[in-house]
Amino acid sequence: MPIKRISQQTVSSLSSIASVFNVTSVVKELIDNSLDADSSHINIEVDYETGGLRHCLVRDNGCGVTKLDRPLMCCNCTTSKLSSNSEITKKSIFANVSTLGFRGEALFFISQLISVSDNRSGSRSGSRNGSMTITTRTAKDQMGEMWSIMGQGLPDGLPKSVAAAIGTCITLEGLFSSSVVRKKLLMRQSRKTIEDIRKLIISYAMTYPELRFTFKLMEVKTNGEICISSHNNKNGLIINPCSSQLSLLSQQYQIRNPKNSFFEGEIETETKNCHNIQGEEEEVEYKLSYVLPLMNGTSEASSKNSNTFLAVNNRPLDLKSSVLFKEIRNMLNSVYEKLNLLRPNIWILNIIILNNENLDVNIEPAKNDVLIFKQKEFLRILENELHVIVANNHGLNYSDEFSNRIGKNKIKETENEEALDDSKYVVFRGSDSGSANSLKGPNDEFEISNEIADDETSNLNAIEISNDQDGKDWSFHTHDFFSQELIGNGDEIHSEARDGTNGANTDDYIFYKK
Ligand SMILES: Nc1ncnc2c1ncn2[C@@H]1O[C@H](COP(=O)(O)OP(=O)(O)OP(=O)(O)O)[C@@H](O)[C@H]1O
Ligand SMILES: [Mg+2]
Repeated sequence: MPIKRISQQTVSSLSSIASVFNVTSVVKELIDNSLDADSSHINIEVDYETGGLRHCLVRDNGCGVTKLDRPLMCCNCTTSKLSSNSEITKKSIFANVSTLGFRGEALFFISQLISVSDNRSGSRSGSRNGSMTITTRTAKDQMGEMWSIMGQGLPDGLPKSVAAAIGTCITLEGLFSSSVVRKKLLMRQSRKTIEDIRKLIISYAMTYPELRFTFKLMEVKTNGEICISSHNNKNGLIINPCSSQLSLLSQQYQIRNPKNSFFEGEIETETKNCHNIQGEEEEVEYKLSYVLPLMNGTSEASSKNSNTFLAVNNRPLDLKSSVLFKEIRNMLNSVYEKLNLLRPNIWILNIIILNNENLDVNIEPAKNDVLIFKQKEFLRILENELHVIVANNHGLNYSDEFSNRIGKNKIKETENEEALDDSKYVVFRGSDSGSANSLKGPNDEFEISNEIADDETSNLNAIEISNDQDGKDWSFHTHDFFSQELIGNGDEIHSEARDGTNGANTDDYIFYKK
């Protein structure tokens, strides 16, 4: 058969179904849009019987779509997020992307999933297979506007002026009516769809605990009226804003004593000696915040079912489809196992790659995975960090191998200065205070003190600072002091490192309070 050009309409249909392949992936795209619109409340509805094929709605209280943008919002390749060609001239087109969406195609693809007959050609509403309506209002508008979207993402005539709160509400009726085979298959999986959407919403809530999410199960009556389903009590969700991921986690999994079951914290560090595509040496700077379970006798976490959450740059990843998620889960399992602990079953990790060009967020259609520049090296360094954190919080010693390896990570000087400002760090003298009195921090910004803020001495993490003779060349590395119980108010620190080196005697130490 000769090569022929595929029609534009067929191309759109083929791409749509690859990107938004079930109701869960549709809901994910709509939640992403609501988050990009700075919403604090996101409400999701699907009908119970078909798992959202008949009725699916996502409403938010975000910024709304401006009047000028409305005619374009569902057209293909139109976005307010990837601004101009300027990104393309940079190292990566994602260098400036901090939003969850960036392709400008999700609403267009979703509109392709619904076969909508043209009202203007005189067909009656009863013969329509589905509909897509978008009601939106910005803070500047007196009223909201309701737009009906046709195939190809084009508006069906002029919008209607309607009463609406500030924000956006997208209602989809008859999803996948344009793909009969897919629809039949999805019909049979409606219970699984509802469970998947529930899990998806929980994973967003774990990444954004300060937001309110609701998930309602609806019933579509024969007269078309939509009301709350009797199944809502069991399968619906109301997730109220929480002050932290730990309190949300404890709420969701009925942990009565979170502090005895988990430990949480945040680190900021960077990998060294990575080479970018141009062969230049480059550092991947990242922040990690974690909520990890204590796997010991007092922990309630150890008896619960597995629930793990990973987000990279505030994008919740999906364990089933993300290679990175699987690698991090395996790595974390092995960190616990190497310390003779049971595998961790409930945890949250949030990784923020600080220089965006080191992150590729466009590696698969459903945006469920990401790729980190020099991912292997990044994971190795992350493993070292986690090993120390987990050991420390379980009161265990970690091997010299790890203390030596972790020393290769650079602690940023600015970080120490900042930390001193908000007194997260406490500086102690070494046991031999030879250089202690004259020791000054980078740029002479901090003073030595031997105060300790409170009694949480057992959770201190030691970082040795050494300087050369003229005090200009600073290096930082960690030592294993966790097993020593000599740290207290005014105490002096014995500085023998576990590897037997005694060169730290004349140094001072900064203790990082967890
Ligand atoms: N809930 C919403 N609130 C405010 N604006 C929205 C909302 N949903 C969509 N928009 C606007 O419509 C545009 C198109 O949305 P769409 O999801 O199709 O593309 P995108 O989010 O830009 O990129 P992607 O295809 O990667 O999701 C967005 O760029 C945004 O300007
Ligand atoms: Mg989007």
